[in-house]
Amino acid sequence: MPPCATVSGNTSTCHRSRALNPSPDPSPRAARLSAPPPAVGLWRLLRPLLFRLDAERAHQLGLLVATLSPPSLVERIGQGGATADVARAPALATRVMGLDFPNPLGVAAGVDKDAQAVTFWQALGFGFVEVGTVTALRQPGNPRPRVFRLPGDGALINRMGFPNAGADVVATRIERLRQEDALQVPLGINIGKSRDAGAADAAADYRRSFERLGELADFVVVNVSSPNTPGLRDLQTVDHLRGLVDAIQTPNQALTRPRPLLVKLAPDLGDADALACARAALEGGCAGLVISNTTVDFSAARMDTTGMSGGLSGAPLLARSNAMLHALRQALGDDPVLIGVGGVMDAASAAAKLAAGADLIQVYTGLVYGGPGLPRALLRGLLAQRAAGR
Ligand SMILES: Cc1cc2nc3c(=O)[nH]c(=O)nc-3n(C[C@H](O)[C@H](O)[C@H](O)COP(=O)(O)O)c2cc1C
Repeated sequence: MPPCATVSGNTSTCHRSRALNPSPDPSPRAARLSAPPPAVGLWRLLRPLLFRLDAERAHQLGLLVATLSPPSLVERIGQGGATADVARAPALATRVMGLDFPNPLGVAAGVDKDAQAVTFWQALGFGFVEVGTVTALRQPGNPRPRVFRLPGDGALINRMGFPNAGADVVATRIERLRQEDALQVPLGINIGKSRDAGAADAAADYRRSFERLGELADFVVVNVSSPNTPGLRDLQTVDHLRGLVDAIQTPNQALTRPRPLLVKLAPDLGDADALACARAALEGGCAGLVISNTTVDFSAARMDTTGMSGGLSGAPLLARSNAMLHALRQALGDDPVLIGVGGVMDAASAAAKLAAGADLIQVYTGLVYGGPGLPRALLRGLLAQRAAGR
C-alpha cells in the first residue's frame, strides 16, 4: 500500500466540509458528491480505514509500508499471475530525452519527497519516478493539518510547503540506490526554493540543490509553481526564469553528461504567460516542461471549499491542466518534452492527457483514491485502447 494512503478523501476533510457547511444537503446530488472515485482491487477494503486518518498521517503510514515491502513480492502480487507484465508491454515503451521509459506513467512529485520508496514505485508498475521537491537544506514545511481530501470530487487540497529532508539526505539515499543498481526506471529529481531564500538568493539556492543532486538524476525538474512557498510562483516570469535556468545550467553543462532539465509550471498562468515562460525555459536549454502543478482556483471543485487554502489536485484539475498542455503543444510543436500531470485518475483521463500532447504522464491524487493497483489497471486500459486503435 502506498503513500496513496497518503492523502485521500477523508475524515479530516469530511469534518471540515461539514463544519464549513452547517446544513448538509440531503439531495441526491450531495449523495453523489460524497462518493469518492472507485478504488482498485483490495484498496476498496483498505481505503475506508485509511481515510479515517488525517490525510498526511495516512500518507506517512502508506510510505512506511512501501518502504518495508519487498519489491519482488510487490511486483509478483501486482502482476497477479499474468505471464507478461503490462508495465513492460513493448507497445507502451517510449524513449524521451534520450532515456528509455518502460511505460509513460510516472509517480508525480510530492508522493515520495525524500526518495524513501523508489523501488516500491517501480515494483507497482510505474515507468518512472519523480522524487522531491527537495530543497537545499532540510525544512519542516507549513503547520499541520496541511492536506485535505475532497472525496466527492476525487480531489485533494494541500498546503505542505515543501517539508523535506534536504538535498544531502536525499542524495545519500539515491547514491545507495545507484550503487546497488536498484533503479530499473528513469528517476527524476524535483528541486525547489528553500522557504528562507529570498528572491535575490533564489537562483543560488536552486543551484546548490542541483550541485548536490543533479548528477544522481536522469532528469531534473525545476519547480517554480507550488502555491505554498511564499514568493515561489513569482519566479514564473521570463526574466526570473532566464536567470534561474542559467544558474542551474552552469553546473549542469559542466557535467560529463548534462542532465535534461524541465520546468514545472502552474495551471493558473494565462496561456500567453505560460507560453512566454515555456519559451524562456527552452531558450535556456531546457528539454521541456511539466504541466502542471496544483491550482489555487478551487472553482472546479463541487464540494465546499470555503475558507480552505493551498493547491487543488485531482479530477477537478484535469480540464485546466489539459487545456494548458494542449495550448503549449500547439504553440511549441513536437520537439519539447511535455510531462502531463493533473487529474489522471484512470485510463480514460490518462489517454486524454496523452491526446492533449503529453509525452509522459504522472499521477498523485489518482493514486490516493485508486490505490496501489491503479498503475497496472491504468496501463492495462491504455494498452487495450491502443490495441483497439483508439
Ligand atoms: C499532497 C501533495 C503534495 C505535493 N507536493 C509536491 C511537491 O513537493 N513538488 C511538486 O512539484 N509538486 C507537488 N505536488 C503536485 C503534484 O506533483 C501534481 O503536480 C499535482 O498534484 C497534480 O497532479 P494530480 O492531479 O495527479 O495530483 C503535490 C501534490 C499533492 C497533492
